Amino acid sequence: MDLSSFRTEIATLENECAAALRGAGDLASIEAVERKYLGKSGTLKGMLAKLGALPKEQKAEAGKLANEAVKRAEAALGEARERAQRAALSAAIEDKGFDVTIPGPVPRTGSLHPVTRVRREIEDQFASMGYAILDGPEVELEHYNFDDLNTPPDHPARESMDTFWTTTPGLCMRSHTSPVQVRGMRWWRKQGFPLPMRAIAPGRVFRNETVDASHEHTFHQLEGIVVGHGISIANLRHSMRAALRGVFGRDLEVRLRPGFFPFVEPGFELDARCTHCEGKGCAFCKYSGWVELLPCGLVHPHVIDAGGFDSKQHTGFAFGLGLGRLTCLRHGIADVRQILSGDVRVLRSFP
Ligand code: FA5
Repeated sequence: MDLSSFRTEIATLENECAAALRGAGDLASIEAVERKYLGKSGTLKGMLAKLGALPKEQKAEAGKLANEAVKRAEAALGEARERAQRAALSAAIEDKGFDVTIPGPVPRTGSLHPVTRVRREIEDQFASMGYAILDGPEVELEHYNFDDLNTPPDHPARESMDTFWTTTPGLCMRSHTSPVQVRGMRWWRKQGFPLPMRAIAPGRVFRNETVDASHEHTFHQLEGIVVGHGISIANLRHSMRAALRGVFGRDLEVRLRPGFFPFVEPGFELDARCTHCEGKGCAFCKYSGWVELLPCGLVHPHVIDAGGFDSKQHTGFAFGLGLGRLTCLRHGIADVRQILSGDVRVLRSFP
């Protein structure tokens, strides 16, 4: 074989391949053409194997001819395949009809945890009222969790019944967010910030509790504290109403009942008119018309002093919101245990 007959053979095969492609209307026949000319033992591709039979000085040019022909044939095949696919699609659309309004598959995306969402809403609300957002450690020193909060040594909350103690003496898992009151006051003073101090501190807390529909061993609270000159119960009541208005989007009727916590004097339980029954009485409010929302009070003078302020000059109020309870109230969840269950079915119901 010489270059001229090699060239003729290639041209013939390439023409044959092009003609076969013109005659191939569907994908199956296109594939057959591909196998015949360009497959492993295809005739056009096979020309490359015949290079060995050519005189040495003709090999380079012949190789180039063969490679270019294979490339052109491959491109033609690609185009033919695309044409056939388009034709098949239009045929299918004409045949069966094609409903462009059918929604496509929507990829499943993650979403924020309901407690995170409620926490952020409340943070936004308080931030808009001039509150700073503080953080505190989950593993806490006993004196921040109890002593500085005016909790007597014999107070039942100190017993291991309620508090998880670590193996290091004097170190516990915080049982509430209130230790951030004293930490926050000290930090505020150290920064030299002006009064009144307004701060909230959301976070996880831990209690050695018997778990039931309204009690978890790990749950979320949001602490709030305001300290300044002449801060009164009227300020507390007004601020709580404003915050709840922001969270619920309307005015809630609230009432204060006496409540006891060692770190506030006087202490209160703030109740809101039940949002489910508007006070008529339902299962959620246990037919009382009121929902216990947040414990609060005026900061005890000992706590003000522990925070580095002077209780003779400064007063303040503090509150501790159960975020889980508020999330249940907002989203109609009946059992707090669902909140941290990690059950994706619960989480998916908050897209
Ligand atoms: C306290 O923890 C006080 N530190 C709150 C406080 C702050 C009072 C500042 C005064 C001034 P209490 O133990 O009631 O209080 O808890 C506060 C809220 O946390 C409760 O109203 C409830 O919503 C939530 N809570 C308490 N225990 C649990 C629990 N085991 N599981 C889920 N939520 C709980």
